[in-house]
Formats: sequence, C-alpha cells, structure tokens
Amino acid sequence: RSFTAHKPPVRIAVTGGSGQISYSLLFRLASGALLGPHQPIILQIHDLPMMQQALRGVVMELHDCAFPLLHDVIATDVQSTVFTDVDYAFLVGSKPRGPGMERGDLLKQNGEIFVKVGEDLNKYAKKTCRVITVGNPANTNCLIAQSHAPDIPKQNFSAMTRLDHNRALSQLALKAEVPVTSVSHVCIWGNHSSTMFPDASHVKVSGNAGHAKFTQEFIENEFIPTVQQRGAAIIAARKLSSAASAANAAIDHMRDWTFGTHGGWVSMAVPSELYHGAYGVPDGLIFSYPLTIDGSGHYHLVRDLPTNSFVTEKLRLTIDELQKEKQEVQHLLKK
Ligand code: LMR
Repeated sequence: RSFTAHKPPVRIAVTGGSGQISYSLLFRLASGALLGPHQPIILQIHDLPMMQQALRGVVMELHDCAFPLLHDVIATDVQSTVFTDVDYAFLVGSKPRGPGMERGDLLKQNGEIFVKVGEDLNKYAKKTCRVITVGNPANTNCLIAQSHAPDIPKQNFSAMTRLDHNRALSQLALKAEVPVTSVSHVCIWGNHSSTMFPDASHVKVSGNAGHAKFTQEFIENEFIPTVQQRGAAIIAARKLSSAASAANAAIDHMRDWTFGTHGGWVSMAVPSELYHGAYGVPDGLIFSYPLTIDGSGHYHLVRDLPTNSFVTEKLRLTIDELQKEKQEVQHLLKK
C-alpha cells in the first residue's frame, strides 16, 4: 500500500457546490491541486435544498473520476454537516451578479447567508480552519461571517482578491511580452470591487524594477481600469461570471497560505485590525494588502512601502467604499 493511504485525510468544505465555480474547484481539489499528490482529502459539499439534484450529478462525476486522493465525498443541504471538523472552507455559495450590476449590489441578497455560515463555522469547524470568501461582495461577506465566529482566530478569515492579483500579473506580462512568472511585486489593495487599487508601482520584471512599457499613461488608463473591470468584462462576454479563473485563484490563495510564498508577494483581503492602521486603513474592515506567507503558513504585511498622493487617493476610495458597505450591514454584524 502506498504512503498516501496512511496519511489522515484533510477535510475541505465547499459551499455553492452545484454552481459554476465549484464545477471547476471540486475537481481540481480532488486531483491534488491544493495539497499535492500525497494528501488524501474528504470533500464536504453544500448547496441549497433546491440544488440537491444538480449536486448529486456533480458527486456522480467526482466518483467517475476515481481520484486516488478522494477519500470520501459528503454532499448535503445541512450546513452543520458540511463544516464539521473542516481544515479549509471555501465559501462560494452566493448569488452571482449579472450585467450592469456592481458586486456591492448583492449585499442584501448575499449578506444574510454569511451570518449562518459564520455561526456554523464557529460551532463545527476546526479552530484552525482557514476560510476564504469567494461569494460577492466578498470582503463584506467575510466580515459578516468572521463577526459570527468569535472562537476562530480572526486571521483565519480571508476574502479573495487573488483573481485580481492574477489578472494584474497577466496584464503586465502581456504588455511586457514576458512569461507571467517573470512579473512580481504587484498587489491589489482594498475591496474586490471596481474601487480596488491594482498597484504596479513596485513591479519587477525578471527581478529588475519597472519596465519601459509600463508608462504612467499605460498604468492609469489601461492597466488599472482593465483589472478593475475584468469581472464585468467576463460577464459581458460569457453572459456568466468568471468560473474557472475564480476557482483557480481560490486554489492559489489557499495553497500559498498553506505552503508559503518564498518571499514573493500575494494579495489577500484580511482583517485590517491585524495591522493597526498601517497604510491608513482603519480597523474593522476586510482589506486586501500585499502579503508574504512564511513556510509555516503565517502571512505578513509588506510594510513601509513608499506612498504618494496618487496611491493615498486610490486607497481612500476603496476604504470609503468598504466603510459604506459595512454601514449597510451593521444589522448583520455580531455586536
Ligand atoms: C470576478 O471578479 O470575476 C467575480 O467577482 C465575478 C464578478 O462579479 O465580477
């Protein structure tokens, strides 16, 4: 028998299991994309009662792959079962936006879901569980869930801006005509919304600062709006929101959070009070920052980056929006 068979399985919860993002996410998780080829996993998948039939089809397909690492699959509409003893929680379940909507327009419909999610994570998940919020508006949904899970450390709650981060890397690589792996030191600040600030002021290409093609004109008029509006551009083109790239980003986020970034920068939205006002961000928000992650899976803020009035203004816009979103969900936050 292989070594793999003797490792205890890791439990991974995924909500919104019958949706588009999960249709990519689940199969990649089961194939070992998150934890590697020697770590068995158990998938605990949730969706609403009316989605159970579709979910059964997904489970059939998971079985039909005969994934060697997939120790068990639990699919249910009972949230407590889904979160029981999990090491990872991918909070995907939520209504996606359609054409012409901002992600914040989903606050009313989706915010309430995250109250119960937070309560159930608090009761049933491992206290070491790492949580990523994918459903929009991701930062504020994460804030709601986190406020209802006081027994899980704050730093275990995050919202996904890795999709924006990956979009930023690719846009710069395409412009410079280099492989995406040559581009580093890029980050996303703030909200996963059109006020996000994709920041290329510290970019390196093949280890060297900047690039001749990254003019201020390109950065301000092409790069920043392209990344800010990419989700909407995908919706306009596909008539559906991004799915495979969102699942890929969620896996990148959790994998790097587990195994580290070897000094490289990533972007994750995390509780701002961990950093006590750094970069002028007030406490009480879920805010995306440039982070490095060490080999034991702890993330650290990239501190003391030089700022200027352009950066300060961009940060102010996204801080203001997050504070406004928070105001709108005051009644959903646990006092
Ligand atoms: C994305 O960025 O593609 C997702 O957040 C979907 C959306 O509404 O933009």
